[in-house]
Amino acid sequence: MNQAAPAPKENMGNPVPRIDARLKVTGQAGYPADLATANVAYGVLATSTIAKGSISALRLERARAVPGVLDIVSVGDMDEVDKPEFGNTGASSIAPLHDKTIFHDGQIIALVVAETFEAAAEAAMLIRADYAQETPSASFDSRGTRIEPAAGKSPMYKENLKAGDFDAAYAAAAVKIDQKYSTPTQHHNPIELFSTTAWWQGDQLTVHEPSQNVTGWKTELARQLKIDPANVRIVSPYIGGAFGSKGPMTARTAIVAVAARRVGRPVRCVVSRLQAYDTQTYRAETRHRIRIGANRDGRITAFGHEGWEVTSRLDPYVVGGTSATSRMYNYGSVLTRVSLVHADRNTPGYMRSPPETPYVYALENAMDEMAVELGMDPVEFRRINEPEKEPIGGKPFSSRSLIKCYDQAAEAFGWSKREAAVGSMRDGDWLVGMGCATAIYPTAAAPCAARVRLTDDGHVRVQSGSHEIGTGVRTVAGQMAAERLGVDIDKVSVEMGDSTLPPAPVSGGSISTASVCSAVLKACDAIREKLFAAAVGEGGPLAGSGKAKLEMEKEAVVTDSGKSARLSDVFNAMQIGALEEYAEFAPKGSSPEALKKLYAGQAEFHGGDQDEDSVKYAYGAELVEVRINSYTREIRVPRIVGAFAAGRIMNTRTARSQLMGGMIWGIGQALHEATEIDQRHARYVNRDLQDYLVPVNADIKQLEVILVPEVDHAVNPAGVKGLGELGNVGTAAAVASAVYHATGRRIRDLPIRIEDLI
Ligand code: MOS
Repeated sequence: MNQAAPAPKENMGNPVPRIDARLKVTGQAGYPADLATANVAYGVLATSTIAKGSISALRLERARAVPGVLDIVSVGDMDEVDKPEFGNTGASSIAPLHDKTIFHDGQIIALVVAETFEAAAEAAMLIRADYAQETPSASFDSRGTRIEPAAGKSPMYKENLKAGDFDAAYAAAAVKIDQKYSTPTQHHNPIELFSTTAWWQGDQLTVHEPSQNVTGWKTELARQLKIDPANVRIVSPYIGGAFGSKGPMTARTAIVAVAARRVGRPVRCVVSRLQAYDTQTYRAETRHRIRIGANRDGRITAFGHEGWEVTSRLDPYVVGGTSATSRMYNYGSVLTRVSLVHADRNTPGYMRSPPETPYVYALENAMDEMAVELGMDPVEFRRINEPEKEPIGGKPFSSRSLIKCYDQAAEAFGWSKREAAVGSMRDGDWLVGMGCATAIYPTAAAPCAARVRLTDDGHVRVQSGSHEIGTGVRTVAGQMAAERLGVDIDKVSVEMGDSTLPPAPVSGGSISTASVCSAVLKACDAIREKLFAAAVGEGGPLAGSGKAKLEMEKEAVVTDSGKSARLSDVFNAMQIGALEEYAEFAPKGSSPEALKKLYAGQAEFHGGDQDEDSVKYAYGAELVEVRINSYTREIRVPRIVGAFAAGRIMNTRTARSQLMGGMIWGIGQALHEATEIDQRHARYVNRDLQDYLVPVNADIKQLEVILVPEVDHAVNPAGVKGLGELGNVGTAAAVASAVYHATGRRIRDLPIRIEDLI
């Protein structure tokens, strides 16, 4: 695979290597559980062995007798604190240790604290619970699930979007399809395990935990513990994979904090990979029915998308990806409907492009089927259904470069060499197929604060309570400051991942680069203004150049006529050694309380389909080649090309890396990834990295990322569209499309397996 970062084109920043790259590869970028903590005690969770019912007795004697055991926090011991909540900050309202009810398999029933990890683990295994057991409902087809419309039931899904008269248009359509698709349960397996380390110094609580939302967690943890948020500090400097799994706070954090208070010393709880399957969030299985009606010329007249999603008994978690699918093409009429299916499961949660990954999988598969019905090239079919305005509200797109993406991807891929007839391309024993799909992700931003300090020797420090979850946000925030203040990136340091820093929103929804860079930009501009005024003012080194256009370059203030004053001379004139500015950015359309909410850890999202003026999305086109062995049916993906347009690209290296990672994950979704559920016990079966299949290097041969230039001033001051989640949308559908092209077999349920093609 060619590893070179793409050369920047128009509106793209340099491929600066991550400023924390050396720390990462030398193991110095410690994850929260790696940070040295004196006198730490070890916590190990004990979890339920049933999925539904209640605890009738908890027998802790044998566990307590293990030498080294300090304490056991169990059911009833959390009465003094408030229950966790479900929402954007809290993962679930299921409140283990608050009551005896069991809502899912593997629910926390106790936390053992001991002098050593081994003692805690041994004791946790010796805890015995007696249960009043009931028959659980595992998933869609289980008896006892409760189905309800998502609209009105979930704060995450307001309404079933529609446009025109779908029923009439679909009935009248000359060509139509009506198909069902499904995506499986998928679990987060970040390399860094989930962990909480907590300790108290008087009233002050410090928590080291991998988090995508330190400010939100500070507030939510303080609420649960009934203490002042000012007394809570969440520290999460480096994270080993997040993708949404470390976004909402789970019930564990407060339990560990309570344990630390009881034993009077720091407690560290690292969750085993096996336990993480139940005690963390995951991507729930989905089902879809898609109906598309079109004229013979290929113009779509009717689009219907119904979705069903599994969630827990208590929480209305829903992704409702119809907001993106219903705005994808020029449909004429639209009908959508999303339903919740409550089962005896832990509450699902965000996983990279939560709504788009499953819903666009269904849409793009259906688009491919329709192209086949019409006898049309699938790229051409997208082209002729390219909308002028989005179909639901009739708003313009802030920018939309989808067709450019298809054009550039098709050229690089050699799409013109694709022979249309199914099964017609072959290379020896291998059946060859080529497929395509569209990627889409909403472009949002949220209020964000940042502090920037420039010293007279040209050093810059950027601080913002955002999170380096592997995206390179530290680096791009540093690049923004380096560029605006005219210094080399080597002189910039960036601090993130601590709730004592200026607050930033949750690092989710691909909003971080846009939000943080917009705040950094604002702080830098305030510094520039002061420096410029001093430089051209009375006694300044550029006195008399008041009308000149000023810039900062190479640690100097320069005029458009070529005059220049060194930074140190400007600082001398001001008789100061450093300038520091604190800036608060609020996206257009923010409510009057938006900044207050930022400090309270409740950052408002703006953009996507929510704005008055336009809808804002980033797009991409993904083309793949599959090869299927004609004897063994082994499926290979030797080639994948993705072209993406996402406004200003801050750094072509980190952008490419994000998009590439997304596509690789997409191949995993297409061919490998699924959590199997034991239907009788509502229990996850393949809960470790040995049985949970993900792609490895040998699975991905040639992968190309094309960055398509795009300028969009409407999205945010930085002009950035997030792309952290864009890459893995559409990939699985493109693979399914290629598998059909190679074999004539349409696989509508992920993952696509050898046995599906026999
Ligand atoms: Mo992402 S799933 O919005 O952390």
